Order: sequence, then structure tokens, then C-alpha cells
Amino acid sequence: MPPFLRYLVPLFLAAAAAAATSATATFVLEEATIESIHRAFADGELTSRGLVELYLHRIESLDPTLHAVVELDADGALAAADRADAALLLGSAALPPLHGIPVLIKDNIAAAGGLNATAGSLALVGSRPARDAGVVERLRSAGAVILGTASLSEWCNFRAPGVPAGWSPRGGQGLNPYVPSATTCSSSSGSAIAAAANMVAVTIGTETDGSIMCPSSFNSVVGIKPTVGLTSRAGVIIISPRMDTVGPICRTVSDAVNVLEAIVGYDPRDAEATRMASQYIPEGGYRQFLNIDGLRGKRIGILRKDFFRFPQGSIQEKVFGKHFDTMSQLGAILVDNLEIPSMKVINDAVQSGERALMLAEFKLSLNSYLSELATTPVRSLSEIIDFNNKHPVEERTAEFGQSYLVQSEATNGIGPTEERAITKLNKLCNEGLENIVQVNRLDAIVAPGASAHSLLAIGGYPAVTVPAGYTSDGVPFAICFGGLKGSEPKLIEISYSFEQATKVRRPPPVLQRCAI
Ligand SMILES: *[C@@H]1O[C@H](CO)[C@@H](O)[C@H](O)[C@H]1NC(C)=O
Repeated sequence: MPPFLRYLVPLFLAAAAAAATSATATFVLEEATIESIHRAFADGELTSRGLVELYLHRIESLDPTLHAVVELDADGALAAADRADAALLLGSAALPPLHGIPVLIKDNIAAAGGLNATAGSLALVGSRPARDAGVVERLRSAGAVILGTASLSEWCNFRAPGVPAGWSPRGGQGLNPYVPSATTCSSSSGSAIAAAANMVAVTIGTETDGSIMCPSSFNSVVGIKPTVGLTSRAGVIIISPRMDTVGPICRTVSDAVNVLEAIVGYDPRDAEATRMASQYIPEGGYRQFLNIDGLRGKRIGILRKDFFRFPQGSIQEKVFGKHFDTMSQLGAILVDNLEIPSMKVINDAVQSGERALMLAEFKLSLNSYLSELATTPVRSLSEIIDFNNKHPVEERTAEFGQSYLVQSEATNGIGPTEERAITKLNKLCNEGLENIVQVNRLDAIVAPGASAHSLLAIGGYPAVTVPAGYTSDGVPFAICFGGLKGSEPKLIEISYSFEQATKVRRPPPVLQRCAI
């Protein structure tokens, strides 16, 4: 069978299977939002159990092709859905914001009760967390149903250079549902694929440097990378406490904002960062910034030379030109042709100090995570490296080895090298984003796709990516709005207003025919 057909056949089978399970008259699973789901609950058209079953079925049909999911906790999810349905029947009390909503969490986030958080590695299969990750606790208390784990690039793309995006020994090779030959990008690939392909409405990703923004961009979904510390990293396998953040990947800004609101807040298990960032949480939450007129009066910086370098006459050049016109018409003040002098250094992880810091921080973070597990087959990075040596996965692991893991193991905490790196990164932040925002009195900067990932990563700055277009080959690309720490309210106003004015997202073309 030609490769193209091999890809199509399972998708058509999925479409047929999905149509056959159509359970309700008017609820549409395709592109369902938290709001449309809640409406269907309230109208008695759908139950949380029914929704979990629909998504399980769709995952069963599509995932053998797309590889977005690592594990499902069907029993746990159905039990939680039944509790949600029972609460709805009891009536009266206000239902929590994510009431009965199934969620896939990235495979580096621990959930008590059966799911294995493994960061894609076989070494961690069978590890048991003592309790939920901080964000999972918050998801559950907001009413969410934890359905399973989403695939990722192994170790959040920190195994070695050259590891294929979206690949892990546990999840296999994730596939871009729009264009199978296109990248899924790294590292929250499964979260983005699953949201894009309507395997669920809500997924959770994590980002060190690009891992929410980039897969969101390539899979035509909305990603929020919150200010570092706004969401707890407790119980999450992270690379860098300075840069790592947990955030939603959904299909709409509104859904992502609802999830963000549910997962932010102080966590004594990630005390320092979450206490610092708590000051940024607005009274009344984030949903108030879903403002259709949110672009009006916003000063948005275009780092033209740094990020908008497209071939003349290319689709991207035209599309972003049109988007800028739309934003101006909606009252945004575009401050064009800005430039950050040190951008070359910022984009070079070795020169900026980012790599050196990540290598040292990863070992500390991982060993600390492992030490908190109730049971685990491995207790240290060194044991994981041994495991990989003893269990080579497929022939391909021989190609790229595990050099980041090995280099990380060779570090020894935060010493003089790392202190120098921190000083340099701080300087790059001050001379970079902080300076350009201050001098030009910006509310946000804009960049295509994930191109500003390092600029935003090194200072723990937030970003929102929104679908912006498709290349002539059909590969999605996003627009990204970033800003200083705590600028989520402005970024939400801008991105929601942009999304509502442009409505670029469409479901993957083949999957579109899945009528449920
Ligand atoms: C987690 O791993 C264990 C050990 O391999 C396995 O028995 C269990 O089924 C896994 N959990 C899920 C939800 O797949």
C-alpha cells in the first residue's frame, strides 16, 4: 500500500466507527468546546460518561495512526465521569468550571491512581507517584476527568540532539494530523495532536523552551505557556525550574483560558516560584479578559528582522500582512521594525548559557522528582542512563544516543559555571525583552509560530499561540503573542480578539469527515 493510503485507511475506518457510535441528536463532538459540552450536559443530551466513551472510541480509532496517547485510564475516567454525572443530577450547587471534562495530561505529569508518568521512557514504567501533581490536584478539584497521558518527545526533547520530534520509546512516532510528512514539533506533541484531532477538548502540556508553543503551532491549536510559577511544577518531570511551566493546549482561546484559570495558584510543593507568581493572578480570574474588543489600544511590537523573515511572495508573508491589517483595524497600535541586538546570542543555547544551566538543573530536578515517588524501578538519572544502555530501543536509538542525559549526569549542582550562565541569561533578559517592552511601552510582542521561544523561555515569560494559517502544503502555522511576566491578562485579550476576528483554525482535513 502506498504510504499515503496507509495513512488514510485508518482515518476512514475511524470516521465510519465514529459515525456508528453517534449517541446524541445535536451535540457535535467535532470541535466541541467546554461551553458546548456543558450546554449538552445541561440540556440532558450528553453525560460525562457518554463523552468519555465517545473520546475513548475516537482515540481507539485514531491513535494507532497518530500516536498521541501513551496510556488511558478508562476505569478511573469512567468512575470520575459517573461522579460528575451524579453531581449534576443532584442539581443546585454551582458546578466547578471543568465539570465532567476529560483531559489528557502530558506523560511527564504524575497522576495518582494507575497512570505511569514516564516522560516517554521505558525506564519509568511502573513508577508510582505518592500523590497527584499540583496541576492534576487542581484539575480534579475543578471537576476535570483525567483520561490518560499524551505522548511527547522523550525526556521533553532532552535525551540528545537529533531525536525525531514527537518520538519516544513508549509512544512511538507521533504524527501531524494535517500533513503526515510534516513535523509534530517538540515536545508536547501528543497534547497538541490529540487536541487538534478532537481526541479530547483539553490537554495539558509543559514547556521549557518551545514545547507548548511549537507543537501548538504545527497542529493548529491554541497553547498558553504561562509565566513560570503561575502553575505548579510539583509532581512534574521538568528540565529547568527557571524555565519550565505547565499550560493548556486546546482548540480555542476560551477553552485554554478556562483551563488556565483552573490550574494556576500557590503550591507549597513548588513554594518559591508559585508564591512569586501568585502576585500576577488577577482578582476575578482570567475569563474576564475574553474580551472581543481586546486588541483596542494595545501596543504590539513587531520584531520584524528577528522573526518575520519569509521569502517574498510566500504565504506566510501575505497572511501575516493581512493579520497585521486586521489587528490595526481592531485598534491595535503596531510598533514595527523593532530589533533586539542580542537575539543571535539568545537563540544560541550554548552562547547564552541556557544549555549549561539546563544540564545542571535537569539532573537536580529529575533526581528530586524520582526521590518523591512511592515506588519506582529507577531512583536517579544515573540509573536511567544504565537502563538505556542495557535496553536499546529499536535501531534508531543507536543513531542519537543519550548525550544530554550523560552530560547532565556529569554536572554537579549549581556551581560557578551555572552561576555565570544565570548572570548572562539575566543580562540577556534585561537587554532583550524587558528593555524593548519598556522603551516602546509595549503590551506584547508578536512573532510567527514558536520563533520567539528562546527569547520568552530564558526569562520565564508567558506566551499564547493562536492558529494563523496554513502553508500551500497545508501545514499549520500560528501567531504568537508574548510579554513580560504576569502579562497573561493582556495576552488573553489580544489573542482572544485576534482569534474571534480571524477564526483560522479548521480541523485536520481528513478527520473532518468524522461525523459524530
Ligand atoms: C502502568 O504500568 C504498569 C506496569 O507496567 C501497568 O501494569 C499498568 O497497566 C500501567 N497503567 C496504565 C494505566 O496503563
